[in-house]
Amino acid sequence: MKKVIALLLVLVMTMSLSACGEKDTQTSGGDSKGTVDVGIVLPTKDEPRWLQDQERFESVISDTDYTVEVLFSQGSSATEKTNVETLVAKGIKVLIICAHDAAAAASSVEVAKEAGVTVISYDRLITDTEALDYYVTFDSISVGEAMGQYLADNATGTGNPLYLYAGAATDNNAFLFFEGAWNILQPKIADGTFVIKNSSEALALAGQPTLTRDQMSAIIGQITTNWDFNEAKSKAEAHLTSATAADKGKVYILAPNDGTARSIADVFAADADVSEYFITGQDSEVASVQYVIDGKQSMTVFKDTRTLAADAMNMAVEVIESKTPATDTTYNNGVIDVKAKQTPIVVVTMENVKEALIDSGYYEASQFTGLK
Ligand code: BGC
Repeated sequence: MKKVIALLLVLVMTMSLSACGEKDTQTSGGDSKGTVDVGIVLPTKDEPRWLQDQERFESVISDTDYTVEVLFSQGSSATEKTNVETLVAKGIKVLIICAHDAAAAASSVEVAKEAGVTVISYDRLITDTEALDYYVTFDSISVGEAMGQYLADNATGTGNPLYLYAGAATDNNAFLFFEGAWNILQPKIADGTFVIKNSSEALALAGQPTLTRDQMSAIIGQITTNWDFNEAKSKAEAHLTSATAADKGKVYILAPNDGTARSIADVFAADADVSEYFITGQDSEVASVQYVIDGKQSMTVFKDTRTLAADAMNMAVEVIESKTPATDTTYNNGVIDVKAKQTPIVVVTMENVKEALIDSGYYEASQFTGLK
């Protein structure tokens, strides 16, 4: 009886999906019963990064014989769980999920796993659960290292002001990006090239080449943007308000992604005491590519979502066809080592923007102005 009630509940939730789940795509080879083979759950439509992934999924989906449905969780773990339950009720065999909150998503994927679904963590690793089969990701440590390297390569002498910003502490990637950046920046802080201006926690740990998760948490707690443009803006404003003119001049800014980089860059650009700034980013969002072309953002790490989406879909199809997907590394999620397929990244600056993003067919030249 309990099971029947639970099933009815799931059905009711499925029917009221449009109210919360932000369904976006249902394509390819559908059958009349409305069943779905592969369910895809993405974190939010409010950041261009995930719309890029959606677009790339749509193009790989059109090449598959299987039915696929994409749902967005709109920054809510509760909606994410409803989305997973909805897709499970539609009979998915594989779930591809990019979690809003790494730890909170554990209970969602456990629901899928109990129903016999193979779970692929997409881009962001879901932590503290055994209910994961695979992880498809970019090499996130190398994203952070590329950011750190860019700043280091553009700094000469000593005493260069360094402002650090990070992603959301609920996203495991925020730790990997910071760890990568720290790998490169810490020796340059230790030798005096850079001086941290906005984090007492990072300053206190400046002598340590490697940080524990707790130490990173303490730093990220101070400098997080929560992946939120407004939070990034107000943090940058507060930092510049409390900094003296001597803490400014030519400055170096570790910004964790493009959306926050644009917010932070605008704040630094508006400060009369900042004469020049170098700022990092990632995702190669259209607006940031324009910022790079215009010299307002120094670099963006290009993560080719065509490859990531294709890798995840190919993996799903292999699972459905009872093949064993190829993986090249593992990531520990706090409980298990998850088999992972990792994609490399490319650093984009004013110098190679055309080659990396236009000539590669990722964007059209007509989407930008001033492209040389
Ligand atoms: C992704 C980034 C993205 C960020 C904010 C991270 O997990 O890897 O590409 O910018 O989340 O959405």
